[in-house]
Amino acid sequence: MDHPLTRDTTPAVAAGPAERRRRPVGLPALAYGGDYNPEQWPEEVWEEDVRLMREAGVTMVSVGIFSWALLETAPGEYDFGWLDRLLDLLHAGGIRVDLGTPTVVPPAWFYRRHPEALPVTREGVRLEAGSRGAICHSSPAYQDAAAAITEQLARRYGDHPALAMWHVHNEYGVPVSACYCDTSAEHFRRWLRRRYTDLDELNEAWGTAFWGQRYGAWEEIRPPRLTPTAGNPAQQLDWARFTSDALLDNFRRERDVLHRLSPGIPVTTNFMTALSQCESLDYWAWGREVDIVANDHYLVAEAPRNHINLAMSADLTRSVAGGRPWLLLEHSTGAVNWQPRNLPKQPGEMARNSLTHIARGSDGAMFFQWRASRYGAEKFHSAMLPHAGTDSRIWREVVALGASVGALGSVRDSRVVSDAAVLWDWQSWWAQKLEWRPSVELDARAQADAWYAAAWDRHLTVDFAHPEADLSGYPLVLVPALYLMTGAASRNLRRYVETGGTLAVGHFSGIVDEHDTVHPGPYPGALRDVLGLTVEEFAPLPAGRGIRLTGPGGDLTAASWSEFVVARGADPQWTYADGPTAGHPAVTRHALGGGSAWYVSTRLDEAGLDAVLGRVCADAGLPERALPRDVEVVERVGELGRYLFAVNHSGTDARIPLPGDGMELLTGLLVGGVLDVPAGGVRVVHL
Ligand code: GAL
Repeated sequence: MDHPLTRDTTPAVAAGPAERRRRPVGLPALAYGGDYNPEQWPEEVWEEDVRLMREAGVTMVSVGIFSWALLETAPGEYDFGWLDRLLDLLHAGGIRVDLGTPTVVPPAWFYRRHPEALPVTREGVRLEAGSRGAICHSSPAYQDAAAAITEQLARRYGDHPALAMWHVHNEYGVPVSACYCDTSAEHFRRWLRRRYTDLDELNEAWGTAFWGQRYGAWEEIRPPRLTPTAGNPAQQLDWARFTSDALLDNFRRERDVLHRLSPGIPVTTNFMTALSQCESLDYWAWGREVDIVANDHYLVAEAPRNHINLAMSADLTRSVAGGRPWLLLEHSTGAVNWQPRNLPKQPGEMARNSLTHIARGSDGAMFFQWRASRYGAEKFHSAMLPHAGTDSRIWREVVALGASVGALGSVRDSRVVSDAAVLWDWQSWWAQKLEWRPSVELDARAQADAWYAAAWDRHLTVDFAHPEADLSGYPLVLVPALYLMTGAASRNLRRYVETGGTLAVGHFSGIVDEHDTVHPGPYPGALRDVLGLTVEEFAPLPAGRGIRLTGPGGDLTAASWSEFVVARGADPQWTYADGPTAGHPAVTRHALGGGSAWYVSTRLDEAGLDAVLGRVCADAGLPERALPRDVEVVERVGELGRYLFAVNHSGTDARIPLPGDGMELLTGLLVGGVLDVPAGGVRVVHL
């Protein structure tokens, strides 16, 4: 099987302190474990926990994430006794600790003193405490209190022998990211003053000549609170950027305390890169600030083929980590508790999920949570140790998975081999999601999902990349939806194609600049030259209306969107056969320099996208991979060799070709030439 190395996969050489902090301290192999909330249980239970953790092969647990009220019982009064005993117990049991800073839930006493630190919604409603994540991230009182508890923890546990890493906060950005109170408004204005040299520049960037929105003084500027009708899009886009930055500042504040007082210990926070799970953070910026990129992923249980969304989230996380190993900090052993219908996982599904994350670059698999809660909002959430106890399917699968993860220790630090890049930009997504676009069916996330799935179905392993990133190592770059495109990104793509790359771009891309202002001239202003075409007019389709395209190998079907494309150098490949744009090019290819740039001006169905992608891949010189449907094959390469992961999501046994001989790590058997992967099973060959 051909998996060309498209990127430098040499493991990073451990160098300075920053490089040393790239992996959990003292963890000899992959991480396996989960969130551990012992404060919900009497101490007698802790001994049993540690015994069972050892039985399950647990190597690390995350503790203290929600414990602020128990650690700082009154302002400045601390009770660390229970955490001292817990860390010592875990250490004695050989379990490493990912220690949380508990700053996602301030104690009740804090809110009593600082009700102003509760967040205000866009509609002006102040949210109450009594749940979690009720925080105005611009509140100085919150920032001071968070720094203070972080400092106490760092001083007390910064060199505790059980400490493997620090886990700051929990899932920044959910359940609330923005706060629209007056303190946040003031903070927003300070942020704007740094972004724009003066008010004239801001007025121009925000296009305030429209609807007479001009500002004459900084104090007049407010957050984009609820307005009678559509608000200023550039203001809303800057607000989204400000929100991500404000939260990141709070992360940095805690991280810097930890780096200062607990040197050498990596600091992370758990991301939620799945585009359906957290929308409000620009993870490209966040990925640069954490020592280890960590992610939480939850399947949408009822979604068909949800393992593709899992793979996508894993690839996005690895890409945010710059290709380095990352860590899956949470997923579930079975049902969650917060979906409309919380379906259990099928037998073997949990192992497939965990091992797919590892295949795609995670150096471990952790869960929410170790022991199922008896009370509280999450009592019906699955756990490693379920309410049913150890005589249960989930427990047996947890123990078996622990052994599998244990057998994969040598995979650690190796890098995933990828075939292509998909461009993704949170800022463009935020811009496209604003109101009054040409069709409510324009959906960047759905486009990204569809294009990713098409690549997945062709057995391509993809990285994600920022539009301004160096793309020179990739034979193929896919751009499902990049409505917002900067001049730098536009030049980057042109250079990429001219120097031999193959680019494929989806509709409604390259339309506006960073202020949501339309690029001058015909659409798509940022991509006209590279694509060799103009779009004279958009022609969104009525709901449910399909259209046909004619071209090589038969007709294709599309829906929701079409365009009056005028080729200006590009060669039409498929043409609209009906609909408002009949006779116009629908899919084009532009030969430019040493490369080619494809444009897909409509929303193709699955078969259509596959047909076009097949041609694009051939253009890029990527081989067809004759692998069975729903069998996922990914490679990691490191100092100790190549690891081929094969995950069979189908109900039939599969046989796949192997590029050599090797040891199958989960069964301990030698394999050569071909690899049998049972229905629903996983195999990992060390080649
Ligand atoms: C995560 C969160 C955990 C737990 C879990 C339940 O988003 O970090 O604390 O709530 O969801 O699925």
